[in-house]
Amino acid sequence: MIVNATRMLKLAHDGHYAVGHFNINNLEWTKAVLQTAQELKSPVILGVSAGAAKYMGGFKVVAAMVRAMDESMGITVPVALHLDHGTYDAVKECIAAGFSSVMFDGSSLPIEENLAKTAELVALAHDKGLSIEAEVGAIGGTEDGVTADGEVADPEECKKIVALGVDFLAAGIGNIHGIYPENWTGLHIDALEKIQAATSGIPLVLHGGTGIPDEQVKAAIAKGMSKINVNTECQLVFAAATIKYCAEGKADPSAANKEKGFDPRKILKPGVEAIKAKVKEKMELFGSVGKAA
Ligand code: 13P
Repeated sequence: MIVNATRMLKLAHDGHYAVGHFNINNLEWTKAVLQTAQELKSPVILGVSAGAAKYMGGFKVVAAMVRAMDESMGITVPVALHLDHGTYDAVKECIAAGFSSVMFDGSSLPIEENLAKTAELVALAHDKGLSIEAEVGAIGGTEDGVTADGEVADPEECKKIVALGVDFLAAGIGNIHGIYPENWTGLHIDALEKIQAATSGIPLVLHGGTGIPDEQVKAAIAKGMSKINVNTECQLVFAAATIKYCAEGKADPSAANKEKGFDPRKILKPGVEAIKAKVKEKMELFGSVGKAA
């Protein structure tokens, strides 16, 4: 059931668990996440970056695919189709394309411009029933080619942007997209406490969910992180499973391969199973299993 993410994240925040945001890259990926969410009776957020949408043929294609899949698979758990790190124009495009949730990432803009654009997009999104995530300050790592260091958001800026009516907020607490460097010092839970205190209990979003030690994830959830974004970890297990399958010679195109292991449906299967296992592991860690409501 495609819904916006407001209610599922409010319930998560109140119930001290988090909803997983899993980035999707193709049809197989989407199906794997939806199947796992349904099996585990967990709410879920499908994250779509501009790069992934372009790869799949555009935001309209993604929205049509996800909505059709949700219906034909008989998905009854709450599913939000969410634009990840959207520009001002991409947010408008996704509202028109049929997304149920958007993120406007104005974190690289001067704060006044970020606030003005966020205010405008909050009104547009809410008018059409979508939820909207905003961000202040940079979250580190690489997202579609943009790199930054693990930064910590300013509670005062967080307070200002939340006052505009955003539904949930990406707040940097030393988290980084992609693989964490050896010398990473961990999440700043003290900073998270200050941000949550300044933002009157709004659900917060932890980007860069790959590779954060489980105890730190749990501590962050306990202090108000209600949406956790995971991308790289799914990509890594998908790649590893596919490489293993091919390295075992199963995709051999010769006539001797009677099993026809080169059929793309067979080549992608181990990767799909690996994504399902990873999504399950994360939903269990985040505490969202059985929380579909
Ligand atoms: P990772 O790739 O580090 O899991 O981060 C995903 C993310 O934050 C998407 O917005």
